[in-house]
Amino acid sequence: MKRLAVSADGPAAWESWRDAFARVAPDLPTISWFDPAFDPADASYALVWEPPVGEMARMANMRVILSTGAGVNHLVNRPDFPADVPLVRMGGDQTAVLMADYVMWAAIGLLRGARRWARDQEKHLWCNRPILRNSAETRVGVLGFGNLGAAVARRLAATGFIVSAWCRTPREEKQIPLFFGEEGLSDFLPSVDILVNLLPSTPHTRHIIDAELLSRLKPGADFINVGRGDHVVEDDLLAALASGQLDSAVLDVVATEPLSAESPLWDHPRITLTPHMASEASREAQAAYVAHVIRELEEGRAPPLLYRPDRGY
Ligand code: GLV
Repeated sequence: MKRLAVSADGPAAWESWRDAFARVAPDLPTISWFDPAFDPADASYALVWEPPVGEMARMANMRVILSTGAGVNHLVNRPDFPADVPLVRMGGDQTAVLMADYVMWAAIGLLRGARRWARDQEKHLWCNRPILRNSAETRVGVLGFGNLGAAVARRLAATGFIVSAWCRTPREEKQIPLFFGEEGLSDFLPSVDILVNLLPSTPHTRHIIDAELLSRLKPGADFINVGRGDHVVEDDLLAALASGQLDSAVLDVVATEPLSAESPLWDHPRITLTPHMASEASREAQAAYVAHVIRELEEGRAPPLLYRPDRGY
C-alpha cells in the first residue's frame, strides 16, 4: 500500500506534517508512526529524522525509508537500522538554496570580520578596522561536491569568490575546478582562504579535519563547518585558532549536539556558532520533496539521493 508513515520529529510534529502533506500532496495517504492504531504492515514508506531507539527495526518491511536529513550517518550507524531497506536522503531546491544562503552569510561575515564588529558593539567600541580583502580575491575551497557542496560552490562562484572543490572520487564538472583524492587534496588546500566543509560523514571522513589538514591551509585561513561535527578534531581546531593558523571559524555543527554549556567553543572570540540549522527546509518543501520521491519510486525510477552503503552516504 502506497502509504507514508511519518516518524520525523516525534509525535508532536505529526499535525504539522499532516497539514503540510495535505497541502502539497493531497493524494498521498499518510499516518503518524506513533498513532496507537498504526501497524507498520500498513505502510510502504517511513519518513524519519532521529527515530526512538529500537524503532527502526520495525521499519524492516518498508519499501523505502526517507530521511528528513541530507546526512544519514546517524541512521546507518544505529544497530536497529534495517540495512536491507533502501534509504533516501533529503534533497530539493529549498534545502540547497538554504545551505547556499548560509554559507554566503558565513563567508561574507568572515570577509568583513562580522564577529569582531559584533563584539566591539557589545563593548560600545567605535573601532574602524581596515578591510584587507574582497570576494573577488578570496579563494573558497569546498570539501565535498555532492548535492549541497555543488549548490554552495556555484552560488559562491556566481557571487564573485574564486571557488574550487575537493571530493574523494573523480567526476565531471565544467564550471568549478575540482580536485580529487589524497593527491588532489595536497594541491587544493594550500591556496584556500576559506575552507567550507560539506563532506558526508562516513568512516573515511571522520576526523578528516585535524591538525595535519589545517596546517596545509594558507596561514590565517577561515573555516566554515556545515557538514558534521565528527569531521573535526575539536582540540586541533582550537589549537589552530590559538596559533593563528586559522583566523576564524563558523560552526553550524559540533561533535556533541547540543553543545555542552562548558564547551570552550561558546565564548571563543573568533568562533561563530549556530545550532545546526543551516539548511532546514520548511515542512512543506520537505513534504513536496518526499511526495516527489515516492511518485518516482511508484513509477519505477530510482531516486538520485539513494544512500549507497559502498560509499557510506
Ligand atoms: C542536517 O544536518 C541534515 O543532514 O540535513
